[in-house]
Amino acid sequence: MENSTVDLKKKIEALREQFANEPNLNPQSLKTKYLGKKGLFNQLAKQLSTLTPDQRKEAGKLLNNFKNNLQTKLEKLDQQPTSAWVDLTVPGILPPQGHLHPVSQAIEEISEIFQKIGFTRVRYPEVDWDYYAFEALNMPANHPARDEWETFFVDLPADKKLGRVVLTPHTSNGQVREMERLKGKPPIRMINIGRCYRRQQDVTHIQMFHQFEGLVVDRGINIQHLKGTLDYFAREFYGADTKSRIRPFHFQFTEPSFEVDFSCHICHGTGEINGNKCSFCKSGWHEVGGAGMVHPNVLRAGGIDANKYTGFAFGWGVERTYTLKEGLNIDDIRLLYSSDVRFLEQF
Ligand code: DAH
Repeated sequence: MENSTVDLKKKIEALREQFANEPNLNPQSLKTKYLGKKGLFNQLAKQLSTLTPDQRKEAGKLLNNFKNNLQTKLEKLDQQPTSAWVDLTVPGILPPQGHLHPVSQAIEEISEIFQKIGFTRVRYPEVDWDYYAFEALNMPANHPARDEWETFFVDLPADKKLGRVVLTPHTSNGQVREMERLKGKPPIRMINIGRCYRRQQDVTHIQMFHQFEGLVVDRGINIQHLKGTLDYFAREFYGADTKSRIRPFHFQFTEPSFEVDFSCHICHGTGEINGNKCSFCKSGWHEVGGAGMVHPNVLRAGGIDANKYTGFAFGWGVERTYTLKEGLNIDDIRLLYSSDVRFLEQF
């Protein structure tokens, strides 16, 4: 019986030695190997049951000491700089991956759709002269049509020719700038996407938003080209069975002018679902923005011969256009700019 304790002592000594000579210094795997449930220490401790109560007392003390010893050594190892034991087989920790803001995604998609049919994406100033935002668009100073755009004026001295500085209330300021860039020489196929600012705020309006502005000028451009472009966009952005509709309207910078609607994808333009009014559109259509044939005065302001060339233009809100997409169900446009990650992660 005495032999059993001696035997255990020897085994403890052997294990201590084995531990001291461990080539792998990763404390985690050493811990599992020595002190894990099925580890070497527990295997040794099982031998206690073969001893008499007296022997068990003595051997138990030895084992306990040994265990404390092991634990202290492992803790010390754990506190050493990690470079001493890099386990290359342990899976890495992936940093959380973000994505583009939904409005940036929409801008990319819209740009691509128009670039596919030969439009050039441009950007023009978002803080611009009154001249480009209004005057060159056939809205002279004090014209009542200007009231439509609830404009922020910048507190800077006015220029004699170009007038005051404004935060652009629409991307139409890019129209005459693009004509000037091309020195009044069509063809022009521009898509101008940028920020706009207006004094407004409710569930469908926000002070800072985006618009995209299309402008096409060439010989023989007519309303059919405009309607074809609208239908193309509707199909590409909303899906193959979406249609566009134009209704007579008034803008100073186009003649004739239209409001543009797209058919509702929920009721497919019928305005009804099972005999009830479609609650998404109420009429079968969603209004998205304005369009028209470029007014000759605007062409002239851009140095283009209005007797030779004609053009069409359109301008819509990116946020509005985007939130009408199937399945999005965003009923308050302001959520897009709430910086709430729980909301943004859904897109
Ligand atoms: N700029 C107009 C707005 O902000 C929208 C618009 C209407 C743009 C007709 C156009 C156009 O280019 O032809 O309400």
